[in-house]
Amino acid sequence: MEIINTLLDTALKARKNSYCPYSGFAVGAAVMDDKGNIYSGCNVENAAYGDTVCAERVAMFKAVSEGASNLKYILVVGSPKGDTITDYAYPCGTCRQVMSELMDADAVIYVAGPEGDIKEYTLKELLPHSFTLEE
Ligand code: THU
Repeated sequence: MEIINTLLDTALKARKNSYCPYSGFAVGAAVMDDKGNIYSGCNVENAAYGDTVCAERVAMFKAVSEGASNLKYILVVGSPKGDTITDYAYPCGTCRQVMSELMDADAVIYVAGPEGDIKEYTLKELLPHSFTLEE
């Protein structure tokens, strides 16, 4: 529970930095590695829409670029811009594929919704039969 609350606080803080002038949909994410280190991310959009990067990937790439491995948990929270969380922002297919590459096989994905409600999934649940180099 403490881990979830810490990840939620961190993701909400990162969400405030969301750069989303095109969609108006602000997302924050937080990743924790096996040592308890936390890395945050927000979505960063682009006028060439396809060049947008989701909050989850920003957080994972920050973790890896800082030398982290064994990524155990990721939490994502997203909704239309503003302080109220009205939606459950599920990771897109690209982010799920990157999770399968960079996170532990037994990694847990939390999706935060309205009023602090949290849904919990394994990576296998969100991306079964994934394409990886190893079984
Ligand atoms: N987005 C994320 O950052 N993560 C998700 O889980 C879903 C979508 C972003 C991408 C884009 O900036 C905006 O939300 C609307 O799709």
